[in-house]
Amino acid sequence: MNDPHLNLEHFWMPFTANRQFKAKPRMLVSAKDMHYTSDDGRQVLDGCAGLWCVNAGHNRAEIISAIKQQLDTLDFAPTFQMGHPMAFRAAEKVASLAPAGMNHVFFANSGSESVDSALKIALAYHRARGDGTRTKFIGRERGYHGVGFGGTSVGGIPLNRKIFGGQMLPGVDHLPHTHNIREAAFSRGQPKWGSHLAEDLERLVSLHDASNIAAVIVEPVAGSTGVLPPPVGYLETLRAICDKHGILLIFDEVISGFGRMGTPFAAQYFNVSPDLICCAKGITNATIPMGAVIVKDHVFDAFMHGPENVIDLFHGYTYSGHPVAAAAAVATLDLYQSTGLFESSRALHGYLADAAHGMRELPNVIDIRNIGMIAAVELKARDGKPGARAYEAMVKLFERGVMVRITGDTIALSPPLIVQKAHIDEMFGHIGEVLRTLD
Ligand SMILES: Cc1ncc(COP(=O)(O)O)c(C=O)c1O
Repeated sequence: MNDPHLNLEHFWMPFTANRQFKAKPRMLVSAKDMHYTSDDGRQVLDGCAGLWCVNAGHNRAEIISAIKQQLDTLDFAPTFQMGHPMAFRAAEKVASLAPAGMNHVFFANSGSESVDSALKIALAYHRARGDGTRTKFIGRERGYHGVGFGGTSVGGIPLNRKIFGGQMLPGVDHLPHTHNIREAAFSRGQPKWGSHLAEDLERLVSLHDASNIAAVIVEPVAGSTGVLPPPVGYLETLRAICDKHGILLIFDEVISGFGRMGTPFAAQYFNVSPDLICCAKGITNATIPMGAVIVKDHVFDAFMHGPENVIDLFHGYTYSGHPVAAAAAVATLDLYQSTGLFESSRALHGYLADAAHGMRELPNVIDIRNIGMIAAVELKARDGKPGARAYEAMVKLFERGVMVRITGDTIALSPPLIVQKAHIDEMFGHIGEVLRTLD
């Protein structure tokens, strides 16, 4: 680390091995487009769009100036029984990108908050329709839905749940995950194997009875667990079973939203329409925290039948629709549209996939997965040391000037959508060389 006076003691870093990091920090001090600058002055290629969130690349002038202008105009205004124009503009903009019939937007400040908001909306929706016994949620093993108690409960990442296990939400069950190396290793795009796993939802409906189930929540492409594209037909089956039993389908698109799949949302890429979409991250190109739940008209309408003077949803955050976040969202979504970013990035999906699958013969590689602008290389775990091999790869790649994200022994790539072929070559060139050196 370059600055000997920087005190690392007080910041308890999230999802970090604090002692390990602080003994040998990796410090980023500025960023532009595809690159970070480290505190020792090196350019580091951003292979994961920060945390899957800087979709248009770093420090885009249009977004930064909109934020500055908003700060000069209106720093804060409440959105409880009050309003300010920017929140309405941002909601209109988000709805314009959403699948048909999803015209209502509830704002939060993060992906976790958007998930917990969506779960509460699902409960309140059934109750508003006189179906108040529908309180159970169905998540999926290996799902990541943030870190609220709701999101952790419907999520299925064992280590995220373990130490809080006694206080998970009680009314939750889980579908099986779709990862199967024996049946589907090295699939390009959606695995052909595995759609039958969605039929497990029928088993859960028989077990709990549909009259007790409020919603199913899944990531259309599971990201944080190590990139699991849905098997062909899987999401369609979930949708059909939910329709049959009056269960709401929630897509958690915190990662897959805003162009990661080359479409505004994965719902459009897969042509499967959920009842609620959770989003965050790319909504502001990660400049200012913001999350949102996009709600289908029939769900929203269910809340609009009570007395007009009574609050229709007893839920919200001080910063729901914060003016600066809303201004950042409007500028970001304008930028995505005016540059045709989602469409143009599609041209490189195949190139990224080819580069990723080119790693197949390297030592310890046991699977490669890709979809949209996402790729993952899964390594064999070292005996008794899960995650150690990928961690070493991540550190070595950072030293070489490439930032990647790891989960367990999977290296995940999700570059900003402005990525060029040369960047992809550079990323995988280094990944290949590093994998050859790892024992
Ligand atoms: C699918 C999904 N849901 C929710 C979240 C939580 O978002 P946040 O970290 O903004 O709370 C994430 C974060 O990566 C995510 O990938």
